Amino acid sequence: MTINSALVIGGGGGIGAAVSRKLAASHAVAVGYRDRQDRARAVVQEIQDAGGSALAVGSDVRTAAGVDQAFHAAEELGPLRTVVHCAGAWDYTRVSDLTEESIDADYQTNLRSGLLTLAAAANRVADNGRIVMISSAAAYMAPGRQASYAAMKAGLEAASRSTAKELGRRGITVNVVRPGATDTERLRTSTAEKAVEAMSAAPALRRLGTPEDIAEAVDWLASEKARWVTGTVLDATGGLW
Ligand SMILES: NC(=O)c1ccc[n+]([C@@H]2O[C@H](COP(=O)([O-])OP(=O)(O)OC[C@H]3O[C@@H](n4cnc5c(N)ncnc54)[C@H](OP(=O)(O)O)[C@@H]3O)[C@@H](O)[C@H]2O)c1
Repeated sequence: MTINSALVIGGGGGIGAAVSRKLAASHAVAVGYRDRQDRARAVVQEIQDAGGSALAVGSDVRTAAGVDQAFHAAEELGPLRTVVHCAGAWDYTRVSDLTEESIDADYQTNLRSGLLTLAAAANRVADNGRIVMISSAAAYMAPGRQASYAAMKAGLEAASRSTAKELGRRGITVNVVRPGATDTERLRTSTAEKAVEAMSAAPALRRLGTPEDIAEAVDWLASEKARWVTGTVLDATGGLW
């Protein structure tokens, strides 16, 4: 039997690794990374040890060539059914400190990579396939010191909903998952301990999200059960508004 493939861009990262592991139950998974080959390889090993099929693909998705490389790797594994975009990065720059360089860097990592992924997915995902983009609660909470990041994620959400309208006629769904603060290495290294404590207390459910919490939401959107859901933003923040 032919197994469908999934491409998880940023699949070696905190949230991406959980998504890769989850999707491996129903797909052969291409686990994307830019720098951290060690993390992506560990995820691949875990999937293979559990009897699944996976490979790691290193490429920079800020460029069309890098996106193409990642898609190509997934296509080697089987017909491409599912694409999840988890690449992203944030910092806490005051609006008064934004520069041409910092805005462009944010744009390239968070929005340009997403638009290039949507473009490639529109051309290469099989009919009735799935596209899921990872946004952030920042897109609607608009926290201070995140003007640029919040703008990029809000843009990613709009682009995803527009893409859903274009691809619906082929049965492809395009949805967004919006995590709040999620307990990853990146959160712990980018955010002061006191701020992480405050973030843990903020949601209605009173804790940080886990990567697995987010992966469950992605897996559902990627499943047949979510066939009638497209162009939506699924809040996976534990209740943050
Ligand atoms: N953690 C949170 O609290 C939180 C909250 C809301 C939204 N999010 C969003 O969730 C996503 C994952 O976050 P995370 O905490 O799991 O962070 P992470 O561990 O740093 O994961 C980011 C992943 O994206 C990859 N990546 C970054 N830039 C790339 C590029 N130019 N080309 C290819 N891959 C690239 C990284 O590659 P390497 O593995 O090589 O580093 C990594 O695998 C991001 O989009 C983030 O904005 C996170």
